[in-house]
Amino acid sequence: MSSFPLGRPAAIAVLASGRGSNLQALLRAFPPSASGEAVLGRVRLVVSNRSTAPALAKARAAGVEARYLPYGTREDFEAAAAAAVDGAGVDLVCLAGFMRILSPSFVRRYRGRLLNIHPSLLPAHRGLHAQRQALEAGDLESGCTVHFVDEAVDNGGIIVQRRVPVLPGDTEDSLSKRILEQEHLAFPEAVRLVLSGRVRVDVTEVNR
Ligand code: GRF
Repeated sequence: MSSFPLGRPAAIAVLASGRGSNLQALLRAFPPSASGEAVLGRVRLVVSNRSTAPALAKARAAGVEARYLPYGTREDFEAAAAAAVDGAGVDLVCLAGFMRILSPSFVRRYRGRLLNIHPSLLPAHRGLHAQRQALEAGDLESGCTVHFVDEAVDNGGIIVQRRVPVLPGDTEDSLSKRILEQEHLAFPEAVRLVLSGRVRVDVTEVNR
């Protein structure tokens, strides 16, 4: 397993199922063709389980290899994803709106180099519709979390959290937009912390 810092630019893979705005933020922070000694990482591969995911088009427009993996079963998808990731010499895998739950064996294979972003202040509001959950709970504050992935859903050591207020009259849409702006800052920030070796998988754990 790679241990960070690598002493060379890391190859980053992004797994995405949809829109790809977090992918876009990572592409801006870690462009595929960046050069120079200060470069921490480059996005080199994008993988999707959806052929129509706009994330794939965003990757191609940025000159990054984009692979749709058309496998229905989790086992087949993960075998193909691992082959793609390992074949591209990837050091760090980022889940950016990736809507499939990964098996414990996949998660263990990439322990310490598998990151996820979630639109809540974990450990609050795991799972789908986190922003709606925050509104329904009457929270006054929300935000996003980038964390190492472990075997449980939306769980694992927290790398970065960014907070936003929940405002009177907020809808799921308005709150999601406010959180998304912070996501686009949080994900690159977390990747920088991991690639530079300042945060490791076992320093922080979410209390369940
Ligand atoms: C983001 O809100 C992310 O936190 C969640 O799914 C959404 C993906 O958005 N996991 P995008 O595809 O990155 O635009």
